[in-house]
Amino acid sequence: MPRRIFVTTALPYANGPFHIGHIMEYIQADIWVRFQRMQGQQVHFVCADDAHGAPIMLKAEAEGISPQQLVARVAADRPRYLQGFHLSFDHWHSTDSPENTRLSQDIYARLKAAGLIYRKSVEQFFDPLKGMFLPDRYVKGECPNCHSPDQYGDACEVCGTVYAPTDLIDPYSALTGAKPLLKASEHLFFRLSDPRCVAFLEDWLGTPGRLQPQVVNKAREWLAGSGAQALADWDISRDAPYFGIPIPDAPGKYFYVWLDAPIGYLAALESYFESGKAAANGEPRSFEQFLAAPDTEQIHFIGKDIIYFHTLFWPAMLRFAGPPYRVPAHVYVHGFITVSGAKMSKSRGTGLSPLRYLEIGMDAEWLRYFLAARLNGSVEDLDFNPDDFVARVNSDLIGKYVNIASRAASFITRSFNGELKFSGDTRELVRAAGDTAALVQKSYENREFGRAMRDIMAFADRINQEFDARKPWVLAREQSRAGELQDVCSRALYGFKLLSVLLTPVLPAVSGRVARGLFGLDRGFVWSDAQVLPDRINPYEHLMTRVDPRQLDALFDSGVPGAPAANAAAATPAAATAAAATAAAASGNTVLSIDEFRRIELRVARIVRAETIDGADKLLKLTLDLGTETRTVFAGIKSAYDPASLTGRLTVVVANLAPRKMKFGVSEGMVLAASGEGQGPFLLSADAGATPGMRIT
Ligand code: 2FM
Ligand code: ZN
Repeated sequence: MPRRIFVTTALPYANGPFHIGHIMEYIQADIWVRFQRMQGQQVHFVCADDAHGAPIMLKAEAEGISPQQLVARVAADRPRYLQGFHLSFDHWHSTDSPENTRLSQDIYARLKAAGLIYRKSVEQFFDPLKGMFLPDRYVKGECPNCHSPDQYGDACEVCGTVYAPTDLIDPYSALTGAKPLLKASEHLFFRLSDPRCVAFLEDWLGTPGRLQPQVVNKAREWLAGSGAQALADWDISRDAPYFGIPIPDAPGKYFYVWLDAPIGYLAALESYFESGKAAANGEPRSFEQFLAAPDTEQIHFIGKDIIYFHTLFWPAMLRFAGPPYRVPAHVYVHGFITVSGAKMSKSRGTGLSPLRYLEIGMDAEWLRYFLAARLNGSVEDLDFNPDDFVARVNSDLIGKYVNIASRAASFITRSFNGELKFSGDTRELVRAAGDTAALVQKSYENREFGRAMRDIMAFADRINQEFDARKPWVLAREQSRAGELQDVCSRALYGFKLLSVLLTPVLPAVSGRVARGLFGLDRGFVWSDAQVLPDRINPYEHLMTRVDPRQLDALFDSGVPGAPAANAAAATPAAATAAAATAAAASGNTVLSIDEFRRIELRVARIVRAETIDGADKLLKLTLDLGTETRTVFAGIKSAYDPASLTGRLTVVVANLAPRKMKFGVSEGMVLAASGEGQGPFLLSADAGATPGMRIT
């Protein structure tokens, strides 16, 4: 009987495009899913947009559209990435859906019936101008510890102190600048501290093999906490105005986005069943029957920042909601991706834009392979370093793997009309292939992809060595040794077939071309193909090119099509390369559609600080207030501006530009300036009345 596995990745917020952290998680899960499918397991791989919450509501409002319109716009962009990176989700849904509303309200009603929901009055900051309670990130003020101005309501970015918004000195609303009032409101709580929840979680966390040891330790720390660290009950309601799911017995209140987000996993699964795709994927039962079945495995891939939600609230909610809901079989946690050692910001990503990667024509399978080579079953962070990327891909995929086929196939096609023939006993050959496949199989199963790639490449090294040792180019010159030549090349091509089978989860497109094109199968590879000797090949056709290091230069520059001239900060040779690459990619496309223009997020920013930088002739370091956040931007405007004259003035910033690592630090956006021949730069400004963070449309 095949395993029946329901796999999800964390649901991305629907307020912006995917960043490299998302793509890494999807690639990790996708490799595991494809591997399981190759073993003949039944896998249902789903995801959805995490649509609700205050940030999305406010962002939509700033753009003058409804939250639904914002979510729809973001959703419309998803397929480009999903297809582009060969991500084989079976279904993609949204938490703003009838399924999620029904499921969230049902789970809530069951938790209430189990005595795990209670009401309590909570005092919170309220913006009198906006008429809404302010989430912590929307209150700013002076840090009570180090007295830095303009810090967020949850933690100080300067000294790192964590506090409540009410601890801020001279708090103000980041939305309107108004002084917030303390106001009481009744909230609903999930009683996570209930002894039943605690006992269940101890047992669930303690199940051997369910979670990675580091994850169990972390969750146990929270569970066993005492005093201020004690396991707190969970505030699951938010007052209107809020973009979320209404709480049936509490008019004007909505579920907090983190309550309905994980339920969105189930909503996506239900919608997938309703669409008929589950049946097409070999599952005859209904959504509820599937969910309730004892052999169903529910598995979530997530990042380490959301362990708390997935190992405490989520299993407890499911357990006490009762059947058909089931607790997760596994939660597989990965670390963060850094780019050349720099950390990623959740809202701003890193300098590595996945869309740009695709747009400048980089091969998605290079990235899949590079990440696979770096991923393992732990929660360690992983670094994307451009030099490592070029070296790893070119040396392994081109130098070791593709090279085998391109060399051996030409002899077989030219001299043997495509026919493979092995001399002597082939049992040992097939047995050795079986051993390698078994080794790699175990590593894939345990998400030890790095180890799998090392074992695969070690095998490729052996094939190349054996091939070279028998000097087929010498054999080819001696008619009498044709049998030997055919044997050498046949063995190399069987080795190549084995490598292709083992790399299929990572390189699905290349592997498909090898299976169908080179070996003439009418389907893609399955795992058991590893031990089947091929008997003929079709002529070799190009499989993959080398990475050109200049592509990495283009990838990491922040040029926006049509805008480089206005980018004083990016007036560097690298910018010119990227601009040329971008222009080439977009050739013949200088007219923007309104949708393309809208992808550029222009916002009003206040220059809080402007500083000169030691050793920089052209640049000023600007600290910008964007209303809900502060950013650092390096701008090439030193020749025209005295830093002191800039403090306090409003300007225009490109807010959704990938951050760019520069010599003096990371630049998190770009200010706009006009320039002509020998004149300027002239910084753009906004008229009086505009406030930091306003969207420019
Ligand atoms: O942290 C995040 O990006 C959330 N949108 C993840 C939600 S995962 C699940 F619970 F839906
Ligand atoms: Zn501080």
